[in-house]
Amino acid sequence: MPESSKIIALVTRIAAAQEAQWLERLRLAMPYEVIVPFRDLTSAQRRLVDIAIVANPDPAEIAQLPALVWVQSLWAGVERLVAELPGFRPPIVRLVDPELARTMGEAGLAWTYYLFRNMADYARQQRARNWSQLPYRPPSAVTVGILGLGALGADTARRILGAGFPVVGWSRSPKKIDGVRCYDGDAGLAEVLRQSDILLVLLPLTENTRKLLDAERLATLPEGAKIINFARGAIIDTGALVAALDAGAIAHAVLDVFEVEPLPKDDALWDHPSVTVLPHISAPTDAGTAAGIVTGNIALYRSNGIIPPAIDQARGY
Ligand code: NDP
Ligand code: OXD
Repeated sequence: MPESSKIIALVTRIAAAQEAQWLERLRLAMPYEVIVPFRDLTSAQRRLVDIAIVANPDPAEIAQLPALVWVQSLWAGVERLVAELPGFRPPIVRLVDPELARTMGEAGLAWTYYLFRNMADYARQQRARNWSQLPYRPPSAVTVGILGLGALGADTARRILGAGFPVVGWSRSPKKIDGVRCYDGDAGLAEVLRQSDILLVLLPLTENTRKLLDAERLATLPEGAKIINFARGAIIDTGALVAALDAGAIAHAVLDVFEVEPLPKDDALWDHPSVTVLPHISAPTDAGTAAGIVTGNIALYRSNGIIPPAIDQARGY
């Protein structure tokens, strides 16, 4: 590939060591491209930047790239970009990586098993030297509901279905996934919640999904249902969730994501007996495969001018 006169800016607000690792990977994957961290760009170079690779970028830095044609995010979730870059015109391409979907499917299955086989209850019982056998139901008797059937949700649904659980799912537009009962719309959500013994959240955070799972909707889950949130903390009304957990209406919650991350040390969720706290680790980005995806996207653009499918900024994902 010929050397380009264009420059790719790496615009991040992540730890310096993490940014340095990304830079090394991206330069290794694209030795023919000039990739420069924003802070090292001269003002003349800023005018040559046509692509920004971003991870939590500072909007003020993005605004200093007048020739920007499109943005490639290193993350799958884009709610922060959408919120911080209102009215932004260049297309924003998010990370869609089959390895991320595989990892999320693995986490979905692992934590479904954790809840299904009452692991938190047995850990609690052990600490109390309590020898009690809880009732066993086979996977075929436990329905898993998945909110969000996109790049991550669809793979996760197939994985959990493959383990013998009936799976129901919900998305904005109608979907067809072999073996999964798919619903959409408000009535569809009500139906999925009504059926979900274990509810797994894999929706993007948008104006339509913020606090989607409020007290009223949580109350429609089967008595003793369990919840896994791998998406974004603000999709669930935490106060309503805690109230439902305290009342025993919801038996347990596995939370990987929170409105404030890291979860503050004094947050009551840390000590809640019916909450498992995870540090946003259900599907960590694999820098190797992600750099490969980004490289493929940029190569396509350089050779054919094709910008990969971008998010719909009005829709929020
Ligand atoms: P996608 O955009 O591919 O899928 C989103 C899904 O949610 C789609 O099925 C979409 O419906 C559905 N959806 C969106 N809005 C609504 C709505 N208002 N009503 C009903 N359904 C809706 O996203 P991904 O699957 O790639 O990722 C999902 C989220 O997972 C990310 O946004 C991110 O927040 C989170 N994430 C968490 C990670 C972690 O480690 N915890 C790692 C990576 C991502 P439709 O198909 O009709 O468009
Ligand atoms: C992401 C995430 O959005 O890690 O990529 O949550």
